[in-house]
Amino acid sequence: MNPYSHIRQPRSLRKRLLNFIYFSIVIWLCFSIFKWFRKERFADVEYGQRLLAKLNATAEEFYYSNQTCRFPILNPYDSSILKFTRHPRSLKCDFIQPDFTFALLNKVYLNTTVAAQYNLHNLQYRHFTRANGTDSSVFYHKWKPFPSDNELSLSGYSGATLKGSYNESNQYSFIYASVEPLYGMKKQSSYSKYRPNVLIIGIDSVSRSNVIRNLPLTYKYLTEITGGWDFRGYAKIEDNTFPNMNAVLTGYKAATQTSELPEDPAHEFVDQWPFIWKNYSEIGYTTLLAEEQPGIFSYKAPGFKKQPTDVYLRSFGRLMNDDSLYKSSSPYCYSNLPEAVQVLNTIERFMAVHDSYQTPYFAFSFLWKLSHDSTSEIERLDTHLASWIERIHRQGLLRNTLFFVTSDHGNRFDDIRSTLIGRYEERMPFLFLRPPEAMLRNYAQIEKALTRNLYRLSCHFDFYETLVDVVLGEFGDESRPRFKNRGRSLFTEIPESRTCEDVDIEEHFCVCQEETVLPLNDSLVTKSLEAIIQQINTELKNASQLCMEVALKEVLAAEKLSANEKVKNNNRYDFDKLLSETKVANVISFVRVTLKATPNDAIFEGVVQITQTSADDPTIISATTSINSISRINAYGQAANCVSLTHRYLEKFCTCIEPLV
Ligand SMILES: *[C@@H]1O[C@H](CO)[C@@H](O)[C@H](O)[C@H]1NC(C)=O
Ligand SMILES: *[C@@H]1O[C@H](CO)[C@@H](O)[C@H](O)[C@H]1NC(C)=O
Ligand SMILES: *[C@@H]1O[C@H](CO)[C@@H](O)[C@H](O)[C@H]1NC(C)=O
Ligand SMILES: *[C@@H]1O[C@H](CO)[C@@H](O)[C@H](O)[C@H]1NC(C)=O
Ligand SMILES: *[C@@H]1O[C@H](CO)[C@@H](O)[C@H](O)[C@H]1NC(C)=O
Ligand SMILES: *[C@@H]1O[C@H](CO)[C@@H](O)[C@H](O)[C@H]1NC(C)=O
Ligand SMILES: *[C@@H]1O[C@H](CO)[C@@H](O)[C@H](O)[C@H]1NC(C)=O
Ligand SMILES: *[C@@H]1O[C@H](CO)[C@@H](O)[C@H](O)[C@H]1NC(C)=O
Repeated sequence: MNPYSHIRQPRSLRKRLLNFIYFSIVIWLCFSIFKWFRKERFADVEYGQRLLAKLNATAEEFYYSNQTCRFPILNPYDSSILKFTRHPRSLKCDFIQPDFTFALLNKVYLNTTVAAQYNLHNLQYRHFTRANGTDSSVFYHKWKPFPSDNELSLSGYSGATLKGSYNESNQYSFIYASVEPLYGMKKQSSYSKYRPNVLIIGIDSVSRSNVIRNLPLTYKYLTEITGGWDFRGYAKIEDNTFPNMNAVLTGYKAATQTSELPEDPAHEFVDQWPFIWKNYSEIGYTTLLAEEQPGIFSYKAPGFKKQPTDVYLRSFGRLMNDDSLYKSSSPYCYSNLPEAVQVLNTIERFMAVHDSYQTPYFAFSFLWKLSHDSTSEIERLDTHLASWIERIHRQGLLRNTLFFVTSDHGNRFDDIRSTLIGRYEERMPFLFLRPPEAMLRNYAQIEKALTRNLYRLSCHFDFYETLVDVVLGEFGDESRPRFKNRGRSLFTEIPESRTCEDVDIEEHFCVCQEETVLPLNDSLVTKSLEAIIQQINTELKNASQLCMEVALKEVLAAEKLSANEKVKNNNRYDFDKLLSETKVANVISFVRVTLKATPNDAIFEGVVQITQTSADDPTIISATTSINSISRINAYGQAANCVSLTHRYLEKFCTCIEPLV
């Protein structure tokens, strides 16, 4: 080495100028890249707002009255449900060990500050790889000292476990999953079609109403910030998790009684099944299966002989569950965070790695531990889930992602099932879908179809066909063949005439209500008319100086919509046995009446919910309606001008005392 190198040499002006120019270019480049990133990411946030404004403008209040399947529009806060609802506090995990390490993309790093603070020593790691031929064991590599550059790569393995000692005698341990395919990142394929990523976050046993009630922050973030479609008529096709999620992933019906697929998943491996992720893999997507353990296919079952997806978190999840650290952590936690968050954070790294390589991915995950047994416990995950979604959204990880949040069915075990609303909720899971902006731009017709489908009967087979659209790179093509002519991509309009039979949903799971015409002098009609007139007059109170009260003049038509007997009696399978529980409280039905009122011969159509408040005496009923359930079906012209500026929402009810001319 030159011993004088530290003495600064005078530099020529030219050199300095050049240096200055280089320096400026570098700064400018960094700044532009930064700006580009910001713009890209911010653009996705803005897109959410535009989506929301559009949906606000187009959403219909209800399905068309000529639609064949009239499923109930359930009130998540119906009084018969509220008594079963609790709001437990957010899940907090005890701090049980310092966070010495953290993972970014596919590497684990040591936090040297924390390590020094607690005198961490003898930190070691060993990689692990899923064993070939079974879902339930792993192959461990040798223990080695943590790399001296404090950076451990997970690539080429299923993951790594760490251990070390700190303070005097405390033990540290942790497990990380690799988020790259075992045999390296996929090569860019030459597939020339539009290739959005697909991210599916499944939550076991939550109905749409349940999500609104018990995941309020998550629901609010999805529907008010990211924007997207939240299907009102999404129905399960079978009893429990397996057949319902299998329908989403394969398009086949694997019912408890008769299965369209040959193997018995309780005793045989399901590797041969036609999972849609195989098709994604073929066109160059990286595939991921991430679940709380055991997963859908490994619950009381052998699962997969070979690793089914490129990145498969089964080994990671199982090791985490078997780890003594899991037992010493708070319930539902692993180390200092909820187990579900450990899984979600791993998915986030998976998304970030693939974003950085610009490789498309198909990611399916399923959380079940907090939601399976009770409708309210899932609320403990709400803040965690909402902030995770916010984080991936704000990082821009959704900007090229077709994003789903979904469930298999509503709760099947909670007390809520003693009410008819609970039995409906069991049959009506949650499905939220948010296409990336580029998809709506490139395929304009899908937006209208999605909005139409919001209030149509939809189901898991439609979800499957939607995933097929992405594989084919054809979005919203009405004419392409559909598997068994059953489901339909949600990017195409579902016909108004669809019935449960069309999609192979058996009667005892069918949420379409049966319709009967009521005699106009029926006591239910009288109660319903009272409820509607009273509701209108209550709404008009805010403008009582301006509008006349309404009164009934004549009833024109009335019909009753009620659950079929099998839904009421709640037949369901339990260990292959068909159960029947006839006792159901708070039976609801809906009466639709058309009436003429004074003044001005206003014609109103309204839907009233009739609830049998007593399980023993069906004649004790309550009748309730709301402003959104009443529409005006003849023209009112100038008659409501006096409220047009001040109470626009009352125009449909108001006849002005002194009409403005
Ligand atoms: C959508 O509608 C809701 C309620 O009607 C309103 O609070 C919200 O501001 C609207 N959002 C947009 C973006 O228009
Ligand atoms: C059903 O009703 C809606 C709205 O009234 C109408 O636009 C649609 O064409 C009707 N469909 C059929 C099949 O009659
Ligand atoms: C290391 O841990 C400290 C204390 O928890 C934290 O403030 C810091 O951000 C961490 N450093 C890194 C690089 O994550
Ligand atoms: C598992 O099988 C693959 C190919 O089938 C092979 O490349 C790999 O080395 C095997 N892994 C282990 C851990 O035996
Ligand atoms: C470990 O040592 C630190 C610093 O000496 C102390 O603050 C902390 O309470 C100790 N932690 C444990 C878990 O023993
Ligand atoms: C998916 O792959 C299977 C097996 O190769 C094939 O039979 C099926 O048609 C593919 N489906 C789609 C939608 O490409
Ligand atoms: C309703 O009207 C029908 C025919 O007019 C009559 O037979 C029936 O008794 C009436 N029912 C009631 C509850 O008044
Ligand atoms: C009357 O108006 C107030 C404020 O404008 C509103 O909060 C309230 O909901 C309205 N009442 C009815 C019955 O619509």
